[in-house]
Amino acid sequence: MKPPLFCALLLLTGTLQAAEDTRQLAPMPGPAETNLRAEMRAGLLALNEILGLVAAGKLKEAGELAEKELGVSAMGRHRGQPFDARPGPHMPPAMHRIGIDGHQAASDFARIAASADREKTIAALPSLTTSCVVCHNSYRLR
Ligand code: HEC
Repeated sequence: MKPPLFCALLLLTGTLQAAEDTRQLAPMPGPAETNLRAEMRAGLLALNEILGLVAAGKLKEAGELAEKELGVSAMGRHRGQPFDARPGPHMPPAMHRIGIDGHQAASDFARIAASADREKTIAALPSLTTSCVVCHNSYRLR
């Protein structure tokens, strides 16, 4: 085999491997998925607002928003809905755990922001996105 062709094949194999999706499939009923996706978009919006508030030095507001939208206070919003519409109970336990850990991390962040210590609040910012990244890298719905 000529070296250029061999190199091209190697590259192609690499690309195919990178495209392979190794995340665990965790399907849930349609209504639960709709609620999960809406909650996710709201979470991203909240995250963006929190970053803006921290950048503007509005730490108290950032903490309040983090608690309300991402923290433990935001858990169990679908509790009153039919079972099929509740995302949490349809998740594998390890996935559900990541979600709960994320809510707890956001509440921890909220407490730090409430102290109005700018250095500590900024240092705690990455804790807001850890659970997003861990869950998205591990699970998919389809
Ligand atoms: C417990 C797991 C879990 C956590 C934690 C999590 N997500 Fe998700 N998220 C998902 C899954 C599963 C999907 C759907 C992926 C798919 O399409 O297969 C999703 C989808 C999304 C979407 C796309 C919504 C749409 O309309 O399709 C956004 C935006 C998103 N997540 C943002 C976030 C942000 C921001 C965080 C952290 C604050 C976060 N997520 C935390 C599991 C999670």
